[in-house]
Parts: sequence; C-alpha cells; structure tokens
Amino acid sequence: MNFFHFKQTVNHILSIFLLVTTLGISQTKENPIPRIETQNGRHALIVDGEPYLILGAQSNNSSSWPATLPQVWSAMDQLHINTLEIPIYWEQFEPQPGLYDYSVMDSIIKQARERDLRVILLWFATWKNGSNHYMPQWMKLKPDTYFNMVNKNGEPIDSPSPHAQATLEADIKAFSMFMNHLKEVDPQHTVIMVQVQNEPGSWGSVRDYSKEANKLFESKVPKEALKAMEVSSNIGGTWKQVFGEHAEEYFHVWHVASYIGQVASAGKAIYPLPLYVNGAIRNPINPGPPYYQVGGPNDNVLNLWKAAAPDIDLLAPDIYFKDTQTYLKSLEVYSTKTNPLFVPETFWHEDFPKFFYAALGEGAIGYAPFGLDDTRLRIGPDGKPMTAKDMYEPTALNFKLFKPMADVIAKLNYDGHIQTAIQLLPIDPEAEKGGAVDRENYVSDQTISLKSWDLNIAFGTFDRMSRSSFQPKHPDGRLLVAELDTNEFLLVGYHCRVMFEPTGKYADKPWWFLSVEEGHYENGTFVMDRILNGDQTDWGLNFDTPKVLRVKLYTR
Ligand code: DGJ
Repeated sequence: MNFFHFKQTVNHILSIFLLVTTLGISQTKENPIPRIETQNGRHALIVDGEPYLILGAQSNNSSSWPATLPQVWSAMDQLHINTLEIPIYWEQFEPQPGLYDYSVMDSIIKQARERDLRVILLWFATWKNGSNHYMPQWMKLKPDTYFNMVNKNGEPIDSPSPHAQATLEADIKAFSMFMNHLKEVDPQHTVIMVQVQNEPGSWGSVRDYSKEANKLFESKVPKEALKAMEVSSNIGGTWKQVFGEHAEEYFHVWHVASYIGQVASAGKAIYPLPLYVNGAIRNPINPGPPYYQVGGPNDNVLNLWKAAAPDIDLLAPDIYFKDTQTYLKSLEVYSTKTNPLFVPETFWHEDFPKFFYAALGEGAIGYAPFGLDDTRLRIGPDGKPMTAKDMYEPTALNFKLFKPMADVIAKLNYDGHIQTAIQLLPIDPEAEKGGAVDRENYVSDQTISLKSWDLNIAFGTFDRMSRSSFQPKHPDGRLLVAELDTNEFLLVGYHCRVMFEPTGKYADKPWWFLSVEEGHYENGTFVMDRILNGDQTDWGLNFDTPKVLRVKLYTR
C-alpha cells in the first residue's frame, strides 16, 4: 500500500466512524429495508413498512458537491419534497483504480437526515445520457480497454460499448463498493432506492459494430430473449433470422440490459434496495424509425429488459413530451402489472404540474421534476432570469398539499381507490358563454365514474355560477378523488369545479351534500378548517386554490 492508498483507507475508516458517531447510528432502531410490493397488479414502494409516495425533485447534474449542496437544500425547502434524487459520479467515487471516495455520498446522507428527507441516489457510471462522460479519467485515458461503440462505417460513437468486458467488471466492482458502503452507513434507510446508470443506450447508431459485437450478432438469440419477446423456442436462430428488421435494435437492447442487469445483481446481492433504470424514452404513440435512444427501456422492449435485468425492480420513463396525449400515453405504458410506474424526471413549468395527478391516477409510486436547485440560472419566457418563486411554486403547489398526506395517498393508491382527471385543452371562451351552471345543466369537461356517482368536472376558475373570464395561462386544472367509504370521498384539486351526479343504484334519486369539509392534513390526519355550504356548494365544489375536501353525500 502506498501513501495515497493508506491515506484514503484511513479517511474511509474515519468517515464511517464520524458518520456513525455524529448521527448516533448505533442507537437507531433498524427499520425494514425498503422494497417494492405488488398486490392485485398494483404496486407500492414500502418504506419503514408502509406504502410511500415519492414527492421528489432531481438536482442538476453537477450539484452533488459539498460546495454546491447548500444550493440544493435551499431549493428543496421551497419545493416541499420528501425525497431528493441526486447523482453520485463514478469519476468522483473512484478517482484511482480501486480507491473509493465516500465523502460525497456521506455528506448527502448526513445533510438529508438533518432535513428529514429521503434520498434516491443516481449511479452516474458507464452510461449518462448514452455517453461515458462520468467514467473516471483513468478509464477514459484507456479507450482501447474501456471502449466506446463504433457505427456501421467504423466511425466512433460517443457511447460506451456494452460489449466491453473490462468496463463491465470495473462498474460491477465500483457499484458493489457503493452498495456495500450504503449498507454500512445507512441502517435507517435514508436512501430508499438507487438508479443504476442514467438514460443508458446510444444515440446515432442502433448498435455497436465493433468486431466483438459483430461476432455476437451472428450468434443465436438467447432463450430468455425469445421468451421475453414471445417467440416460440422452435424458431431459434441468429438475431437477424429471428427478429428481421428489429434485429439490430433488440440485440443492442439485450446487451445493454444484460450489462446493467449484472451491475444491478452484484449490488443487490450485497444490499437489496429497490433498483431502477430510467430511459430517455421514445415517443410511445409515434416512435418512427429508431432515431431515438436505442438500448434503454423503451416501451417496445420492456419485456426484453425485464428478462435481461431481473434485479431491476422497475423501468422508469423520463417524460419530456410537451404534447398532453403523448405524456399520458407514456404514463400508461410504463404502468403495468409487472412494472410500477415512477417518473424520475420531467418538466415542472407551465401546465406540467397537472401530470403529477395523472401519474397518481396511473398508480405511480412517485414523481420528480428535473433540475430544480439554486445552482442554475433559468431564463423565463420574458427573457429575464426566473426567480426562485417562478421556478419552485408550480411544483410546491402540489407537494405542499400532498406532503402531509403522502402516506395516506400511497396507501389509497395501492388499494386501488384513487382516480384522477386533468385538463386536456384550454377553455374555449365562446363555448362558455351564457347560462348559469346548476346541477341539471352543468358544464363539464370530463367525468370520473365511481361506483354510484359520477363526478362532472369543469376545468378553470369560476365566478360562482359560470366560468369567469379569467383562465389560468396554461390549462393546468387537476383533480384527484378517492372513495373512502360509501358516499364518502376525499377530493384534492386545483383550477376546477366538481359536481356530483348519482348513477347506478342512486340514478335519478334526489341527493344532497351531507357535509363538505375543507381542511388539510397534519402527519396523515385530516384536520377540518371549515364546513362549506350555501354558495360554496350550491354551484359545485370550487377548487380556485389548491384544496383538500372531505365530502359526504346522502340520497332519499
Ligand atoms: C435527461 C437526463 O437524464 C438528465 O440527467 C439531464 O441531462 C436532462 N436530460 C437534461 O437537462
């Protein structure tokens, strides 16, 4: 051991000792390790033994440094999150081969605990947005050993090859050290989940055309891949023979996923936290030819991914589509009986906060807008720097309301009691002219159907009887409803108005509000602030500000 090694080792031991003593880890009650649980095709992230809803935000890429962490926390305070997503960079973590620096990881964990926040660590390693940019320098300087892909013409592609065995071995080793350290220093599970790599796959070439890759491409498709793509095992053959025009794409996916699957398995064997992979996903409605990032968990290859990387608990879409239908489709296709929906990255401006509700309606275990911290100046639509309020308020409007009831919502969602609706279009002022709104003549944009009631929802803001001329700049109306008991509902919403209508066994019966309580949650318990009645209920329940209501109805 040379002096440098010795110093690192001493630092490592010291940092563990300090963390353990300053945080009193030895005295902390051990909680069960977080896990993903599934019942009746629905999923929950279980933290401290209970369903947990991730109200998250992701820091900017270069914020995980002791010098910049204060600018991360200052933003998180204003966002009302309960979980921070933040990267750990391989280049920082393993600055010399076999030397591991846990200082950044330890700082994040310690400082998150001081703020009572949970953390999702993002392992920026072999792949970051399809490139190798977070590999340690000592690897980048040996490009023949830790090689990148080449395209069909033999030209270099800025993306690591999934066939580089030495890179795989180095990643497995580093990720194992990462998970081992987490296991040692985090018995209270401040870190609840780990993202393995970031947006893996490649842009600009559908696969690697190196010698190694070409040889593999001529080999037989593994049985597991055939099964995943529902191809009969009698139809064995090479990738080209079995998958024809999709062969190159599926081949690349299989090898990227197998690579990451091996990294994940090594880490999980040491410390079995939930693990996920995020994707720069292709458009699920109009994918077009594979000019999208190939290799990641796109909607057409989710089963290939599941077969190649069984220790990855979920495949998560980074959703940056601006078109509402494409956004909603993305939520839908990543929420399946075998895949819990989690949105680890998305936009936060304009009307995007409404998609948080849409995600919950699809059973999401969490939602996290990207790039929210004070390290980065953002320019607003007026060409001027955005204020913190401009940046954080849209997300905070949701999370401030949900944070004290996050566990309640997670549980209701796991049990299948939640439905949501979001505003799809801006209000057409012409269509709104004339006419008071009453129970029988209610202007509604969408309906949520429950067992014996329909909820007719009009989006926008309202002036008692009709829609007022004021509409929010962007169509951002949203509503969540949970059926708590017979004729009893929890309603959470913003920029909408709701009227109930009896259906099924109550159809055509006269009905009334028994009580409409407006309130808020404190540590999972509803606290009533006032009872709404008269003008506040006769024309529908008006969510002109973000609101939580508990509603009871009765019929004759
Ligand atoms: C998606 C990536 O996953 C993020 O790390 C970041 O690069 C954003 N794109 C763009 O800022």
